[in-house]
Parts: sequence; structure tokens; C-alpha cells
Amino acid sequence: MYLRFIVVFFLFFYHSFFPFLCEKNKEPLNIAILVSGQGSNMEAILHYFKQPKKQGLIKPCVVVSNKKNAYALERAKKNFVPTVYLPSKIKNGITNEKKSITRKQYAQKLIACLEEHGVTPKNGLICAAGFMVIIHKDFLNHFPNQVINIHPALLPSFPGNNGIKGAFAYGVKVTGVTVHFVDEGIDTGPIIAQKVVPIANDETLATLKEKIHKAEHELYPRVIEQIVYGNMKMVDKTKIDNSSQFMKIKSKM
Ligand code: GRF
Repeated sequence: MYLRFIVVFFLFFYHSFFPFLCEKNKEPLNIAILVSGQGSNMEAILHYFKQPKKQGLIKPCVVVSNKKNAYALERAKKNFVPTVYLPSKIKNGITNEKKSITRKQYAQKLIACLEEHGVTPKNGLICAAGFMVIIHKDFLNHFPNQVINIHPALLPSFPGNNGIKGAFAYGVKVTGVTVHFVDEGIDTGPIIAQKVVPIANDETLATLKEKIHKAEHELYPRVIEQIVYGNMKMVDKTKIDNSSQFMKIKSKM
């Protein structure tokens, strides 16, 4: 079974990157989940950590959506997680200058909202899951290396909005999913973990979407769990060389 997947974990010096994770957490890690749509990844995370053996590892403090009618908000409520609708007001058609000001303001509102719900630089992880807002650097600087995202392709291939369709249309034989740190670019941050999804000869876009979402729902919670355990190290991707320590995640599952 495992031969079907290659799960690649880039491990690196987490002491400098994860000061908040250096000791085994006794307190749960406070999590905020940022969403815009269906919220299937959000729900997969919530369900995973509801399993008896996983309880107490994380505390889902808040789900924030920039879309009022996102189904994710309903799903979060059903799981008894506080929700906040925080519109970004970043509209198409406004100038780049205005966009950048609005993004900066949104970063401050998001920081305030998260901190109000207990998600702080000291004990917080922010998981973007289908969040359609480009996050401003002020937010990333406030939560250094604490903002992660899931993407439905094997980055750096097929970044952006059409990860699944792009890979399918290109005719690649394998695609997959990637969990990565968020940086200022679009899907360009350091890769944390990937899971490969092979594309069958008779694959359709619909069957591929299903496989990709299944892989996402398996991978994302497990990566969060390893972050909780402090098992994640990362390699600075600008400094990868032969001496880089490749990683082994000690599974405690
Ligand atoms: C996922 O495919 C994720 O990789 C991408 O957006 C989609 C969100 O789906 N960033 P959902 O809202 O979690 O169902």
C-alpha cells in the first residue's frame, strides 16, 4: 500500500523555526482554520482530532471565512467550533495599490480575530484550507512559520487555482497533494509534506478530484499532528545540498 505513495517530508532546523514547538506540548496547540468554500479539509482535521487517541492534541479555536455563505461555516458550527465571517473587501477591479492597502488592513483584522480566540504566536497554528485570500506579509511576520496551506497538486507544479485540472489536462502520470508553509507568493512556500496520487489510464477529472480530496484529507491532519509532536523539521529550500538531513517522521500514531 505504502509503495503507492511517496510521502516526502522536508525536515529542518525547527528550533529556529518552531520555538513554540521545541518542547513536547502539554497544552493543546491552538488552531485557526481559514476557509472560503466547502470546508472538507477543515472537517477532516476536526474529525481526525476527535478520535479518542487524538483528543487534546489540538484545540480548534476558530474557523474564519472571507465568504459569508461558505458551507465550511455550517460544517464548523456542526462541529461546535466558533466561526467568524471576515470579508476581505479585496475586489477585482480595484487598483493594485488599493489591493495592497486592503490586504494589509485585512491582515490586522485577522490577527486581532485570531488572538481574540486564543491563537497567538506563542501557541498557535494557522491552517489555510481553501482560503482564497492572498495573505499579507504583516500577518506572516506576526506568525512566523506558523501558517500552513494545502494545495491539490505536487508543488512546485501546478500552483494557483487549478491544481487538479491543470495536472489532468497536462497529462501527467502522477500528481498529488502538498502541505506547505505560506509565504508571500502563491503556493511558493517551503514544502512540508507531499502525497502522490497516480493517474490511471481511464481517469476522468471527476475521479481524479475524488482521489485528490481523499489524499488531502489523509495528509493534512497527519502533518498537523506531527507539528504538534514537534517532529517536523525543515530544510531551508535555498540551502538544500547533499549534506541536507533528510527526514524521518517518527510516527506516534
Ligand atoms: C482543496 O482542494 C485545497 O487543496 C484547495 O482548495 C480546496 C478546498 O477544498 N486549496 P475544501 O474547502 O477543503 O473542501
